[in-house]
Amino acid sequence: ALRIAVLASGRGSNLQAILDAIAKGDLAAEVVGVFSDRPRALALERARAAGVPALALEPRNFADRAAFDEHLFHRIDETRPDLIVCAGYMRLLGAAVVNQRRGRIINIHPSLLPAFKGLRTHQQALDNGASEHGASVHFVTAELDGGPVITHAAVPVMADDDADRLAERVLALEHPLLLATLRLFAAGRVTLDDSHIRLDGIALAAPLRL
Ligand code: GAR
Repeated sequence: ALRIAVLASGRGSNLQAILDAIAKGDLAAEVVGVFSDRPRALALERARAAGVPALALEPRNFADRAAFDEHLFHRIDETRPDLIVCAGYMRLLGAAVVNQRRGRIINIHPSLLPAFKGLRTHQQALDNGASEHGASVHFVTAELDGGPVITHAAVPVMADDDADRLAERVLALEHPLLLATLRLFAAGRVTLDDSHIRLDGIALAAPLRL
């Protein structure tokens, strides 16, 4: 089974979707550890409730971001993950740790990348008058929300949406999007080389729309 380490800063609903799918036999994977930058993250409780080792490291206890990242990824590496999944992890990862793990870290982001990188993506979509919005799963590179996009899922933006309603509609789609993407990894179907994401060995011309 695919060994997954999860990084999460908060609520952990995406983590829960992974844990539930594994428990139901819907995803051939094992969550080998959950890691957080926030000791009070609900994600840590969800992990422990599922019998998964959970660890929080506080950035303020480290000299700088590089020191924090080094320690965090040392602990992650100890769990020997095949794939590291950022699921609501709200801290930038430094180039050093990311570049050493090219093709092995993915992130779920609440927009149709490359549109609306960074924070408050739902408000960004509304402010820009987008008619369509959604979520993306992408490989993490040193560029914030800028790595190659593997999969997309879209929802319509409604005339009376506010950021909360739009966020709710997108989140409902994030869980199946992340699971479908993880199933591709679990089946060994996705790889990243110097220039391309490959699905079954064939270079993707555009993100897969799920
Ligand atoms: C999700 O909407 C995820 O896409 C987003 O945070 C939320 C976490 O929810 N991630 C980012 O904004 C990354 N920059 P969860 O903790 O319930 O999974």
